[in-house]
Amino acid sequence: MSEQEKVRAIRSAMPAVTEHVYLNTGTFGPLPRVVTDAMRTESERELIDGRITTTSYERATQLKQLAREEVAQLLHCRPEQIALTRHTTDGINLAVMGRNWQPGDEIVTTDMEHPGAQGPIFNVARRFGVVVRTARLGTGAGDVVSAIARLINTRTRMVVLSHLTWNTGAILPVAEVAELAHRVGALVVVDGAQSAGSIPVDVTALGIDVYAIPGQKWLCGPEGTGAVYFSDDALDQLYLTIVGYASLAPSGLEPIGGYFVPKPTAERFEVGGVHLPALAGQVAALRWLREEVGYDWIFQRISELGRYAAQRLATLDGVQVLTPLDRMAGLISFTVRDCDPQKLVEALAQRNVIVRWITHPYCVRLSVGFYNAEEDIERLVAALTEARGELAGARSAV
Ligand SMILES: Cc1ncc(COP(=O)(O)O)c(C=O)c1O
Repeated sequence: MSEQEKVRAIRSAMPAVTEHVYLNTGTFGPLPRVVTDAMRTESERELIDGRITTTSYERATQLKQLAREEVAQLLHCRPEQIALTRHTTDGINLAVMGRNWQPGDEIVTTDMEHPGAQGPIFNVARRFGVVVRTARLGTGAGDVVSAIARLINTRTRMVVLSHLTWNTGAILPVAEVAELAHRVGALVVVDGAQSAGSIPVDVTALGIDVYAIPGQKWLCGPEGTGAVYFSDDALDQLYLTIVGYASLAPSGLEPIGGYFVPKPTAERFEVGGVHLPALAGQVAALRWLREEVGYDWIFQRISELGRYAAQRLATLDGVQVLTPLDRMAGLISFTVRDCDPQKLVEALAQRNVIVRWITHPYCVRLSVGFYNAEEDIERLVAALTEARGELAGARSAV
C-alpha cells in the first residue's frame, strides 16, 4: 500500500478528520470507528447480558490486563509497571501525593507545565510545606538541562516535567534531567499527555520513574481513560493515596495482622470499578494504532507533517511560530500580527478548521496528527489568510 493509500484508509476510518480540518488532537484525538464499535459492543453486552454474570469479573480483569499490556508495549516496560487511570492528571496526582512529604522538601518543576501537573504540585506545597522551585524555560528553546540543574539540590525529592510541553510543543530532555535528579535520589515524574502517541517513548531507556498518559489525545481513545507507569524504584518508594479493593492483593480482603496488603504490582494504584465500554474503547484504540497503523509510521509521519506545517506557517507574513523547530513533533503554537488568538480560532472554526487558543503564552495552537493530509495544512493556511483579512477589516470598520 502506498503512503497516500494508507493515509486515505486511515482517514476513512476516522470520520471526524474528513468532516473537519481536524487539528486539535492535543485536546482530544479523533476516534477511529473501531473504538466506537468496541464501546457499543460492550454497552450492548451490559444491556442485554446484564452487568454481573458468572464471567463478568473475569472479563473485566482480562480487559484491564489487555489495556496494561498495550500501554506497556507503547512505553517499553512491563505490564506489571502500569496502572490504569482516568486521565493524565490522575497519574500525576498518584505520584506527587505518593511521598510522605516533610516541610522543606523540594519539588523542581518548570514554568511550562499544564495545570494537570501544577495542581498536584501546589496541593502538596500548601498541605505539607513543600518548597516548589520552578525553572523558567520560556518557549523551551534554550538550555533546559542547565535551567533545571541549577534548582536541583540535596533537598530535591521529586522533579516534575512534561516530555512534550502543552504550550509551545517543545520536547524536553527528560533523560538528562532524570540522570541529574537520580544523583540526589529524587524521583522523576513525567507528564506524557502530549508525547504518548506522538513521539517514541521508552521509559526504561529514558530512566523515568513515573510516566502519566491520557487515552483521549494522541492515542485516539475515549475520554475517561489513561495509564501511568511506575519504575521499580517508584513502586518501592511511593505510598498509596487512594486505596480500594482493586489495590489489594486477594488475601488482602481479609486483613493480615490487622493490615491490608497492597498488590505487588502497579495495579495497587487502581482503586475500584471502571467503565468497561471506555476500557474496551481504549484497548481497541491502542491495538488499532499498534497493529493496523504502526507506531513507527505514526511517529515518523507526525514528525514530518508537523515540521512541514511549522515551516509553512513561518513563511507567512506576520506569523510568528513559537515552537522550537529543532525539538518539536506535532504540536505547533503561533501568533499572527494584529490578530487576537481567541478571535482567530473562532474565525477559523467558522471555516471548519479546528484548532485552539491557549493562554500561556497567549497564542493559537494546532496539533498535526498522523491522519492529517498535506491538504489540511493548505486549507489551514488559506483559512488563516482569509480570517486575518476579515479580522483586520472588522478592526478598521470600528
Ligand atoms: C501537558 C498536559 N498535561 C496534562 C493535561 C491534562 O490531561 P488529562 O485531561 O488527560 O488529565 C493536558 C491536557 O491538555 C496536557 O496537555
